[in-house]
Amino acid sequence: MDEKLRENDAVIFVDQRGRKYLKILRRGTRITIRGELPSESLWGVSEGSWVTFSSGERFLVLRPTYADLVPNLPRQAQVIYPKDTGVMLLWGDVFPGATVIEGGVGAGALTIALLRAIGPQGRLISYEIREDFATIAAKNVANFFGPAPNWSLKVKDLFEGFDETAVDRLFLDLAEPWKALDQVANALRPGGVFVCLVPTALQLKETVQALQDSREFDAVECFETLMRPWSVRGLSVRPVHRMVAHSGWIIVARRVV
Ligand SMILES: C[S@@+](CC[C@H](N)C(=O)[O-])C[C@H]1O[C@@H](n2cnc3c(N)ncnc32)[C@H](O)[C@@H]1O
Repeated sequence: MDEKLRENDAVIFVDQRGRKYLKILRRGTRITIRGELPSESLWGVSEGSWVTFSSGERFLVLRPTYADLVPNLPRQAQVIYPKDTGVMLLWGDVFPGATVIEGGVGAGALTIALLRAIGPQGRLISYEIREDFATIAAKNVANFFGPAPNWSLKVKDLFEGFDETAVDRLFLDLAEPWKALDQVANALRPGGVFVCLVPTALQLKETVQALQDSREFDAVECFETLMRPWSVRGLSVRPVHRMVAHSGWIIVARRVV
């Protein structure tokens, strides 16, 4: 991918106050924020350029990073915050070429991160119980990741079991992960890494306890991530007044023999 914007690229427009607007450069469409601009007029423009809308307001245009993308992703389910996704990918030890299962899919935010991390040689199989959510996720992957021939999206209840065995890594983001541990154990190879995210303390307790009681998992860890942004303006150097104080706990365990 070079720096020139092309048809169907996802881009963010950043205004003078740093606010970001996610758009797609579709043929025959106009980008509307405050004022408008034909999408075609941006094809061939280098990302990192300032462009002027019909209102006279100027915006910086860039392809979105993953962190830009996720808060703006079309969705009906809660997405995993990028601060958690980054840590989940590393503690989950996702590597290029890995075979990974994910469930549920929601809007596909974690799906996109996993597809980027496993690369074209890897394989991702995603389970989602709701057809409408699966449709949104498939659209988000197509729009914001691109073609993914190594991705299978299954509209299935994962509590009925996974079709795959001997996978390297398995990620769960749903309400009762402790109830799926037998299914997870059947799908993961020995040494494989299981990662899940839960938003409340009782879910944390249930899941960790179930993993500790199981003979099929060991090396259980749990933690949360706090990211505190700072404001740096001249002599005023301080944390910003607001932050995401809570998202959830990340639980990691290894499949053992
Ligand atoms: C919080 S969302 C997942 C968000 C996703 N990780 C992301 O980053 O966009 C939880 C998803 O799990 C799905 N789900 C719940 N129970 C399920 C089950 N038994 N089998 C498969 N998917 C399930 C829900 O429909 C929902 O889409």
